[in-house]
Amino acid sequence: MDIQKIVKNSLKLQDGIWQSDSGGYWSNIEQEQMTKFLEDLDSMDSLAVVRKHFPQHEEVIFSPQRVGGVGILDFQPSDVVLDAGCMWGALAVPIAHMGCQVIGVDQTRESMQLMKSRLDEAGLDQAQLVQCNLNKLQLADESIDKVIVNGVLEWLAEGNVELDSFQKDKLSKNSQTKKADTDQNPYDIQLSFLKKINRSIKKDGLLYLAIENRFDIINFIGAKDPHTGQRFITIWPRFIQEFMAKKFTGRSYLTWTYSKAELKDMLIEAGFNNIEFRYAFSNYRQPELVLTDNGMKQCIPLRHRTFNSIIKKVLLYSLETVFYSWLRLSSLAPAFIVIAKKQ
Ligand SMILES: C[S@@+](CC[C@H](N)C(=O)[O-])C[C@H]1O[C@@H](n2cnc3c(N)ncnc32)[C@H](O)[C@@H]1O
Repeated sequence: MDIQKIVKNSLKLQDGIWQSDSGGYWSNIEQEQMTKFLEDLDSMDSLAVVRKHFPQHEEVIFSPQRVGGVGILDFQPSDVVLDAGCMWGALAVPIAHMGCQVIGVDQTRESMQLMKSRLDEAGLDQAQLVQCNLNKLQLADESIDKVIVNGVLEWLAEGNVELDSFQKDKLSKNSQTKKADTDQNPYDIQLSFLKKINRSIKKDGLLYLAIENRFDIINFIGAKDPHTGQRFITIWPRFIQEFMAKKFTGRSYLTWTYSKAELKDMLIEAGFNNIEFRYAFSNYRQPELVLTDNGMKQCIPLRHRTFNSIIKKVLLYSLETVFYSWLRLSSLAPAFIVIAKKQ
């Protein structure tokens, strides 16, 4: 695969990663800790280095359950697959193992350095890594078979993020967190990204989009939003979200998620057709169940297990049983996995 025929930004190869003129930093790990981690990566293998520096993330990087959702895609060895926001390669590395030509794009070079090591250790040379801001990425028309956007769309309007401090920062009126360098609203940024992806997909190509549901049932009982760490924020109308965010955090609310109907409308506006929704339980990162509307009858309570308090366990078990298993309300599912065709 000739990457420069697909990615049209000006690129320079630097230590195995194609460098554009735009990058950034988004990670669960603070940048300072990351520097020490990368030093060890030169002399140790990727798993050993993760175990040494952030064992709490081993599961999220290496667990085979991470690709539980993308199995729907029926990958062919000839497929060109773009993993937009590939991070540590939790999806892109296993997809490369299936023989596909993988393009991993992310703004965070540090994460891709881990991914590069994983690819090298496995002797996989059919993956290309590109450091680029997805909002600035330029792609050739009809050049890609499958595009994965897993937990990324909602972040596109944000700037740099060190997740822990980002969530804590949000609670402070003096937040120093850098806002994305744009005045467009999150919807417009996300829509223009999806339009670009739509143009880049081949005629019979597919988009795989995984994202939290803003009306996830637990958001109504005060669970913390996994992006901002704020409670109830996702379920308010947009103008109230903005008002609440400004009042309690001193900055805008940018990590917009959507209801099923809103997400479908957005994909249609971006040019997609034939849009199929699946529902991920208990989340899309390591899905234990991925159900269709007809399959909702097989839904079983799962999330109550994650709570320590017996009251919360009982409350959530009851809600999951009534709303998911009995009423089959997929519109309250934790997350959506959407497969959309270009045509
Ligand atoms: C929540 S992580 C998801 C990672 C990966 N898709 C997965 O499922 O493991 C979000 C990733 O998106 C990347 N990202 C967020 N906004 C971006 C942007 N504007 N341009 C490029 N990458 C971005 C971050 O750097 C981060 O690696």
